Amino acid sequence: MRIDIATLFPEMCEAVLSTSIIGRARKAGFIEVYCHNIRDFSVDKHQRVDFAPYGGGNGMLMQADPIYRCYEHVCEEACSKPFVIYMSPQGAVLNQALAVDFAENYEHLFLICGHYEGIDERIIEEIVDKEVSIGDYVLTGGELGALVLTDAVGRLCDGVLSEDVCFEDESHYSGLLEYPQYTRPQVWHGREVPAVLLSGNHKMIADWRHEQAVKRTMEKRPDMLKKEK
Ligand code: ADE
Repeated sequence: MRIDIATLFPEMCEAVLSTSIIGRARKAGFIEVYCHNIRDFSVDKHQRVDFAPYGGGNGMLMQADPIYRCYEHVCEEACSKPFVIYMSPQGAVLNQALAVDFAENYEHLFLICGHYEGIDERIIEEIVDKEVSIGDYVLTGGELGALVLTDAVGRLCDGVLSEDVCFEDESHYSGLLEYPQYTRPQVWHGREVPAVLLSGNHKMIADWRHEQAVKRTMEKRPDMLKKEK
């Protein structure tokens, strides 16, 4: 998987994506992530990338051309046309199924981060394949969304997590939240680890975990049980 992020704040993205599991996976070559400064693709002598919207209105709008030039640069460098995602509060809300879809069906993603009041509509018409939101609220820019998407997709790519990670058990994978888990010590602040987990009986443990997952989902996220799969 290759992910290119077009942003006005590459250092913000780079700081997050150089850290922890994604940072290690990049170094080890399991995923490629590149952060590009859209300003570097402006042909304006002051490297401007934003102007007031035609017709009036609040704030500034990002121009189409620097984003397009950044996209062309990435296409040439990668020798492939990426699937283009515009991070926007108007997009489809990211969930685990969408992250799995991106990880399984695309080899190259190009993420556009907007700022100010948004971006010129014509770049969306020209190159964007899908708009993605990370939730029903408005952020100051698309960077946090792009970072969330890169993390959620990146961790699903081969080699990024250790072999023994079981995606099937994770919250959201099977439409249920994950069961509660415990580690040492066996008693902490007077709270004991459920006895079944110490029983060594794998069938009983699996059944208990499933029951707990259903119970938790009913308590914390009943909306997930109502959703059609
Ligand atoms: N940019 C601004 N708000 C956003 C959101 N909710 N998701 C993704 N990108 C955004």
